[in-house]
Amino acid sequence: MRNVIIAGNWKMYKDMTATAELIEGLKSRLTSLPPRVTVVICPPFTSLAIAGTLLKGSPLALGAQNMSQHDEGAFTGEISWNMIRSAGCEYVILGHSERRQYFGEKDELINTKAKKAIASMLKPILCVGETLAEREQGITDRIITAQVRGVLSGLTRAEMSSVVIAYEPVWAIGTGKTATPAQAQEVHQMIRKLVSQIYDWPLAEQTVIQYGGSVKPDNAAELFSQNDIDGALVGGACLKADSFAAIVNAAK
Ligand code: 13P
Repeated sequence: MRNVIIAGNWKMYKDMTATAELIEGLKSRLTSLPPRVTVVICPPFTSLAIAGTLLKGSPLALGAQNMSQHDEGAFTGEISWNMIRSAGCEYVILGHSERRQYFGEKDELINTKAKKAIASMLKPILCVGETLAEREQGITDRIITAQVRGVLSGLTRAEMSSVVIAYEPVWAIGTGKTATPAQAQEVHQMIRKLVSQIYDWPLAEQTVIQYGGSVKPDNAAELFSQNDIDGALVGGACLKADSFAAIVNAAK
């Protein structure tokens, strides 16, 4: 059975006080996890250090929402792999559709960041997803194929053991419109097949492919019951301890 990873992408929410509150709420609700279930929280950069401290000794892992492709230097406003690692991060979300849409990130840059993350012992959560217009034009497969090939370009089989893929249809993010379990499963199966073509079946079988886009406590269990859905990347519903814990419990 594949591992399951539930990650909470806090986006630009929660100052340090609110971070501490939410983490305490999560720690009291999620005291133990089955070995195949990993839970990652991804607060904003300013909250990573306090989150790292508060999470010590808990079963919850820490991730960042982005990082620079550079090691260090005169890059005003950027944050390096070393900075997020020293705060306690094990994961980093790369290529989220909001980074693509508002900050112009392209597959090539996301691929460069992914290589940097893996070389720095971080596990990248690589996001792909089509827009509503692309889905309506019937080109979802083509878009997802190009994105997956682009973000994985040149990664070795060994490097792939650190990679998590997150399928997040842009039209389902923050809209309350979840892809139906069947719609999500169809794309997840396609991504897994593509990974098997680029690498091989044993590797594709192990690759964790998360679904993201309006995942809520009341739709999580049905999404997780699909063969190729291995957890979730949660936005809005991860900002409250009750709802995020309920989503995690649906995966147990
Ligand atoms: P929502 O769960 O708010 O739709 O956000 C999904 C997302 O973008 C997670 O990265």
